[in-house]
Amino acid sequence: MKITKICCIGAGYVGGPTMAVIAQKCPDIQVTVVDLNEQRIADWNDPNPENIPIYEPGLSEIVSEARGRNLFFSTDVDKAIDEAQMIFISVNTPTKTYGKGKGMAADLKYIELCARQIARVAKQNKIVVEKSTLPVRTAEAIKSILENTGNGVQFQILSNPEFLAEGTAVTDLLNPDRILIGGDTTSEGQKAIQALVDVYANWVSKDRILTTNVWSSELSKLTANAFLAQRISSINAMSELCEKTEANVSEVARAIGMDSRIGAKFLKASVGFGGSCFQKDILNLVYIAKSYGLNEVADYWEQVIIMNDHQKRRFSNKIVQTLYNTVADKKIAFLGWAFKKDTNDTRESAAIYVADDLINEQAKISVYDPKVTRNKMISDLDYLETRNNQENSSYLETLDNAYDACKDAHAVAVLTEWDEFTTYDWKRIYDSMHKPAFVFDGRNILDAKKLEAIGFIYQGIGS
Ligand code: UDX
Ligand code: ADP
Repeated sequence: MKITKICCIGAGYVGGPTMAVIAQKCPDIQVTVVDLNEQRIADWNDPNPENIPIYEPGLSEIVSEARGRNLFFSTDVDKAIDEAQMIFISVNTPTKTYGKGKGMAADLKYIELCARQIARVAKQNKIVVEKSTLPVRTAEAIKSILENTGNGVQFQILSNPEFLAEGTAVTDLLNPDRILIGGDTTSEGQKAIQALVDVYANWVSKDRILTTNVWSSELSKLTANAFLAQRISSINAMSELCEKTEANVSEVARAIGMDSRIGAKFLKASVGFGGSCFQKDILNLVYIAKSYGLNEVADYWEQVIIMNDHQKRRFSNKIVQTLYNTVADKKIAFLGWAFKKDTNDTRESAAIYVADDLINEQAKISVYDPKVTRNKMISDLDYLETRNNQENSSYLETLDNAYDACKDAHAVAVLTEWDEFTTYDWKRIYDSMHKPAFVFDGRNILDAKKLEAIGFIYQGIGS
């Protein structure tokens, strides 16, 4: 079966970039991305491609090339479902905030709504592709909804998890390590898998396209994220030990990273991992393990989260302790709010938790982030429900450049590894600050020796 029309439900950090690249690489396929959020679709359709709602290096260029040609953004979900032979589900699956599994299980209400909508609208056979990261065996629920509420048409369900990382989404999509496609072992299932393989084969070599059964594919995504997060928590655990022993965590990471069995990536000690995936997926894995009665498995993975929470808290504690055990009324400048560089996404960013801790100590936080808006920062704090919107607004100041953010501050805390922070005139920043002036480098990106020569008291992670 040759696919000529694709629909993607969900125009977020996954759906948007993924569909833009599919459209760019497959000019014969019409790709329509739909979302319930009207503002989001309006932003994707903004005549100026620089104003699209998601910041990713290289994305606006691809959108401007394909949009209007074979890439469309729309709020007409029914029409897009009806026309497409293949439907990607890329809606969000946040951690449940209510009921059974609260704080752990993935909330599948948006997925279920999509499945019901597809079932209601579809008048011809469709291939439904799970793109969102989902708990293992979600395809079973989707299948059951489609088959029991549909119009008697046939559905094939594939799992095709997205491995792109934010900030590098476009290059990850253009040169993926692998594409994973899980489907039914029946001949219909195999045909559906082949249809999706053919889409990717437009730009990905066949030896990088891996096909499995649906459950392996669903579980592989959770496993990949759990392993990656575990590496960060492992090196972060070592960072604390380094600080006690005069070892240097960057040196340790380099030494072990050169062991080809361990490998060099994902060994950067930091103030803690953030992002929409790692915490959510591990909590979900823990919940699934528990629900099968596998308590040791659950405890093992939960420790990755416990370590990450500890690392964030340890960082804010260190700031308070170093500033003579009181930060009340002191201005602390934050460089960066996003969970990593080159994205405007702040979900689960360590900066939010560090700010919350410091505001509890009545510090004034003054933030500069190149891509995150003030509204987003305040709403991130509001979401924690530690204090109300007015209080958060009064404690959090935002500036459009780092020099103003740091002026009169007692300390600078680096929360995101934006490249531009390494290029600043740090002498100028030092001169404008209270003395002694401290730098807490939560990303180990600044040159400690250079800062110390200027007069700063520098503290990184793990040294
Ligand atoms: C992650 C996975 O990498 C991706 O494959 C999956 O599909 C979604 O989740 P993402 O959350 O976009 O992607 O970012 P990633 O680059 O993995 O970073 C996650 C967090 O870990 C960031 O806060 C980052 O700063 C932190 N990190 C990463 C470290 O602290 N140290 C490292 O060595 C690497
Ligand atoms: P991700 O990082 O997984 O892409 P986002 O939150 O950025 O997550 O994007 C998910 C998008 O899915 C949101 O824009 C949301 O409005 C959209 N969405 C959720 N449920 C539905 C639905 N039933 N129909 C259409 N769009 C939906």
